[in-house]
Amino acid sequence: MQRNTKLYETVAALMASGKGILAADESDGTAGKRLAMVRLENTPENRQDFRELLFTAPDIEKYLSGVIMFDSSIRNETDDGVLFADVLTAKGIVPGIKVDRGTRALQGFKDEEITQGLDDLDKRFAEYYDLGARFAKWRMVVTIDEDKTPTYEAVRMNCVMMTRYAQLAQAAGIVPIVEPEVIHAGDHSLEKAELETTRTLQILFQTLQEYRVDLAGLILKSSMVLAGDRYQNQTSAEEVAQATLRTFHMSVPHETGGIVFLSGGQSPKRATENLNAIAKLGAQPWPITYSFSRAIEEPFLNAWAGKSENSQKAQEVLLETCKQNSLAAQGKL
Ligand code: 13P
Repeated sequence: MQRNTKLYETVAALMASGKGILAADESDGTAGKRLAMVRLENTPENRQDFRELLFTAPDIEKYLSGVIMFDSSIRNETDDGVLFADVLTAKGIVPGIKVDRGTRALQGFKDEEITQGLDDLDKRFAEYYDLGARFAKWRMVVTIDEDKTPTYEAVRMNCVMMTRYAQLAQAAGIVPIVEPEVIHAGDHSLEKAELETTRTLQILFQTLQEYRVDLAGLILKSSMVLAGDRYQNQTSAEEVAQATLRTFHMSVPHETGGIVFLSGGQSPKRATENLNAIAKLGAQPWPITYSFSRAIEEPFLNAWAGKSENSQKAQEVLLETCKQNSLAAQGKL
């Protein structure tokens, strides 16, 4: 296996204790949904203002080790003409890039999706590296519907494509984050979520190993193990924490560089409480932290409300949200 110590340095920087990763990598369409929360139009200018406020917030480097961007935002600049990636690098925050191109229906598999984006990925990685990216993200989707989904075939095909992405990332000197998102929406139980998350992660890591991906130079981005949002018996943070760590112990090889969590549509408060409960269960074979999007951006957006007079207040709220999550990642809340 090809080993690249630069990848390990990036993993170590991203997984530094007391820090996490901001996922600000919404596609232009999804960024529009965030802006709609504060009644702003989805224009390039408003998307720039949104990201510029996030990335230039004073002191965020105390709590953020990395920021994931989208293709249009890694090419974007501040009003002063500085590339966002350079703003982050100057603060000691590692710039990252989402490289998948979303999901499409998987023919023959009702309600299941395949992630696309492998075409020319080697060339895209070379360009992103030049723009400053040192890690990347690829997301696949797993939806639980009783015994109908997920199917082995859909999960396996997604894992093969995700593995190809991970190979290309590592060859380009970029740390791959692999993100199999088990969707929280649904009426499944915690036990069912645990079973399907464990199966998915087992298939993913088996595939990564078959194709000789260097797990020490890779980060897993996982859902927390949660009962579906429409399930009648919602569980405590302690139960979520136990189920989530049991899942990882059944499926994630110890040499894996780290594990980060997506928030998955939980309220910001609940995402932070669950993270804290997980960390409270003590040291694990892998460093573990957060890589939230909505759970970090929502309080910021509410404080900003799209008004320039609220900018400073919104940046203070962002800093406080990151601080609370960084404390939670250490079990200190
Ligand atoms: P959420 O934290 O909003 O789930 O987003 C994380 C992410 O990166 C989804 O791909």
